[in-house]
Amino acid sequence: MWRFLAATFLRCAGAAAIRLLSLWSLPVTMPCMTEELPSTPPRKRQRTTVPDFQKMKGAGQKITMLTAYDYPLAALLDEAGVDGILVGDSVSVVVQGHENTLPVTLDEIIYHAEIVGRAVEHALVIVDMPFPTYRLGVHKAIENAARILKETRCQAVKLECGAQQADLISGLVDAGIPVMAHVGLSPQAVHQLGGYKVQRNEEQLLDDALTAERSGAFAVLMECIPSEIAAKITETLAVPTIGIGAGSACDGQVLVTHDVLGLTSGYVPRFARQYANLAQTIRTAADAFCADVRQGRFPEDTESYK
Ligand code: KIV
Repeated sequence: MWRFLAATFLRCAGAAAIRLLSLWSLPVTMPCMTEELPSTPPRKRQRTTVPDFQKMKGAGQKITMLTAYDYPLAALLDEAGVDGILVGDSVSVVVQGHENTLPVTLDEIIYHAEIVGRAVEHALVIVDMPFPTYRLGVHKAIENAARILKETRCQAVKLECGAQQADLISGLVDAGIPVMAHVGLSPQAVHQLGGYKVQRNEEQLLDDALTAERSGAFAVLMECIPSEIAAKITETLAVPTIGIGAGSACDGQVLVTHDVLGLTSGYVPRFARQYANLAQTIRTAADAFCADVRQGRFPEDTESYK
């Protein structure tokens, strides 16, 4: 009996000692043998989340947002460090060449959102719900918004809404779909409004923004409203406000990237600041290419195969 117990003890102790030795020896001997440190995989930047936007307001950190509709631009904006990228229904105007935002369809916005979602590693990506895909009843709105989240890597939807749409917002939020509310000027209502006009009804704007917050919207985008009203709303709301033509007191700012880059031909709104003139750069490059081809300067031998 004693002999059996002693033998079992020795077997267990031996096995434990071997395991310990092998664990110790791994990190010590391997780098010495190869004279190299193990390589670490490149670190991916963390994806910005909906709660991050709320934390940024809490920390008094301004939120930056720009629009994108394609892979290279989305990747560049993301690399530049914008906090949020909006796949806006402005795609209808600045990419598709329509007169307003009404023509873009759900399938088309999903097409663009899927591309942008794959290009972005860091920014929070929000997708506009096209007209009238969220005005066909709460059930249909959930179905349409869910398609956006299921078929793209995007994280939230934006809808033009107000105090009348409390049930719509809470229905989407209850379904697990983060909502950014868009109040003030509603470009999708251009025909009802008779044009793109600054919205000045303070009581209405405050009611719209507060209802959106109470219904669960994680942020409120305010378009074309007087700075003073935007400042009051920003102070009142716990969720962040993102302004476009709404003054500097908002918690963040968004612009249409084509306006920022000088890629829009025609009307540029007063609130847009142009940081580059890509339209001119593109014209100059295209002119130079045509001249080179016509005069036999392109291609050269170094640009051809033997
Ligand atoms: O579609 C869009 O680009 C917008 C702007 C307000 C940024 O909604």
